[in-house]
Amino acid sequence: MSSKKKTILKVIILGDSGVGKTSLMHRYVNDKYSQQYKATIGADFLTKEINVDGDRTATMQVWDTAGQERFQSLGVAFYRGADCCVLVYDVTNTKSFENIKSWRDEFLVHANVSSPESFPFVILGNKIDIEETKKVISVKSAQDLAKSLGNIPLFLTSAKSSINVDPAFEEIARSALQQN
Ligand code: GTP
Ligand code: MG
Repeated sequence: MSSKKKTILKVIILGDSGVGKTSLMHRYVNDKYSQQYKATIGADFLTKEINVDGDRTATMQVWDTAGQERFQSLGVAFYRGADCCVLVYDVTNTKSFENIKSWRDEFLVHANVSSPESFPFVILGNKIDIEETKKVISVKSAQDLAKSLGNIPLFLTSAKSSINVDPAFEEIARSALQQN
């Protein structure tokens, strides 16, 4: 008999339409990327088995949600039971950065978490592969926001070029495990 414990870690990815939520999930789970944009409708998840500490494994259930307003109401029902919430913005899109706080508040309203002050979030600034002149959000302002929202871990990523995606999800898994 194995004494291994099975844990399911539910992770929800939120952020404006087009920031790369679906792309980040596919890069992390399947190591694949597509240039083509297809809006997510409602919410869906992919799973990935991860090693936790030596003999322990966990199933990471990564929920990808719709950024487009008209598809959003379909997604909020899935926030409940989340162990970590990932907030994504696009480093070339000011509005998507300004909306990070609203996405976090929106999550807390619908997820019904027991202690909102200590619930784990992770912020991802995506598309860092894009040329420097098009980046409108400085690292400093991202760090300031992450700090002001309660020292949320921040990662600058590229789903396209596969930059920092694995380290980000390792941190996501680590913080989700703390909820279990
Ligand atoms: P919704 O489903 O509408 O909420 O959008 P989303 O956040 O899931 O965005 P999606 O992953 O569909 O990506 C939107 C567009 O940005 C697609 O054309 C992607 O190929 C592109 N994209 C995603 N990630 C990156 C990245 O890291 N770098 C670059 N250059 N483009 C990216
Ligand atoms: Mg999507």
